[in-house]
Amino acid sequence: MPATGAPRWYTSLTQIIADNSSSSVYQLATTDAAHKPHVRTLAHRTFLTPQGHPSLPLLLTTTDQRSAKAAHLARNPSIELNWWIGGSADQFRIAGTAHVIPFSPAPGAAAGSGVDPDLDCPGIAALDAAGYDWRSKADELFAVLSPGIRASFAGDVDPGTRLPGGYAHMDAWPLRLPADISEAKDEGGEERCPGGAGALCAAGD
Ligand SMILES: Cc1cc2nc3c(=O)[nH]c(=O)nc-3n(C[C@H](O)[C@H](O)[C@H](O)COP(=O)(O)O)c2cc1C
Repeated sequence: MPATGAPRWYTSLTQIIADNSSSSVYQLATTDAAHKPHVRTLAHRTFLTPQGHPSLPLLLTTTDQRSAKAAHLARNPSIELNWWIGGSADQFRIAGTAHVIPFSPAPGAAAGSGVDPDLDCPGIAALDAAGYDWRSKADELFAVLSPGIRASFAGDVDPGTRLPGGYAHMDAWPLRLPADISEAKDEGGEERCPGGAGALCAAGD
């Protein structure tokens, strides 16, 4: 029988996070093309539950869609994340799938998340079916990033690759970008703001 209420892990996690708001990062593991695992710290941005589907909560974070993790997820969306909450001495290990939803979809891209409905993420599929406004959510998440983090999306070299002129190459990059993504594009240079909002589809009970 399908679950109808919020999963037990979600109820417990949200209660604990409400009392431990400084525990706002988790570690996300992905695998590369050679099946080698990679793990890194990400900031939790928000939870998102499709209306009428309390059993399908999502975790949202933000990242640069040029990053290695985005390439890993495009090949294999299976993930595990680990969220240690020191204040309550709780560790949550959440398995599921994760998908990158671009801040700036390609011109002419269909509405919605762009995530293939055949991929195993019923939470994103439910939001897409309900016409969820991913653009507004991306704008909202972009606006709450620090100006410096927003500016990191405007570098002209993919994250994790060698800088052609060493660190001096970064001198031309903006240090701060405004919260409005269209203004940010103007300041960072047209099409130089390719950051992506990653939607984490988490499973568990
Ligand atoms: C405290 C902390 C928070 C971080 N938050 C984020 C984040 O929210 N999004 C992100 O893309 N990277 C974040 N990072 C950087 C990642 O850990 C990682 O170094 C970067 O995203 C590159 O990862 P990748 O090359 O595996 O894609 C954070 C790092 C630290 C130490």
